[in-house]
Amino acid sequence: MDTIRELWTEFVNKGEASWYHFIAARRGDEILGFGCYGQRALTEGTWDFYWMGVAQNMQGKGIGKLLMEFVKASVKARGGRLLLIETAGKEEFEPTRQFYLRYPGCELEARIRDFYAVGDDLYVFTVRL
Ligand SMILES: CC(C)(COP(=O)(O)OP(=O)(O)OC[C@H]1O[C@@H](n2cnc3c(N)ncnc32)[C@H](O)[C@@H]1OP(=O)(O)O)[C@@H](O)C(=O)NCCC(=O)NCCS
Repeated sequence: MDTIRELWTEFVNKGEASWYHFIAARRGDEILGFGCYGQRALTEGTWDFYWMGVAQNMQGKGIGKLLMEFVKASVKARGGRLLLIETAGKEEFEPTRQFYLRYPGCELEARIRDFYAVGDDLYVFTVRL
């Protein structure tokens, strides 16, 4: 939370010049979900989708899909061609993995076993734009 708040503040202050880009899904003033993404250093056209979160009571209603669509369009408009998404292998992240596995055009590109901790793998998904 602290990291996200810090990066958010930088984005609000610097706008497009910020390394991290944020989007929010809103209903009026209420934030229902957010996404944070940015260009990967030392690559040509590769971007990271760092974080995405939808309010617990709003999950499963298509907001995650909308955020993905927006990020894809935004990255593509900036010349991006490859979007990377990392997530964890813990049991509690199974619904998150299912979300990415079911998302059209999103592929499980790599899995590094025991990355975060023994028994907690890193999953890398990609979307080609
Ligand atoms: C992962 C997350 C962002 C998905 O957002 P969401 O708004 O709940 O997802 P959507 O409603 O857009 O779902 C899109 C598709 O994924 C599928 N899906 C979503 N949650 C799922 C679940 N728990 N199990 C299986 N499938 C799921 C839906 O069936 C839907 O497919 P459909 O359109 O064919 O029905 C959201 O659940 C979340 O914030 N999770 C907790 C935080 C997190 O894990 N963030 C990602 C960190 S990398």
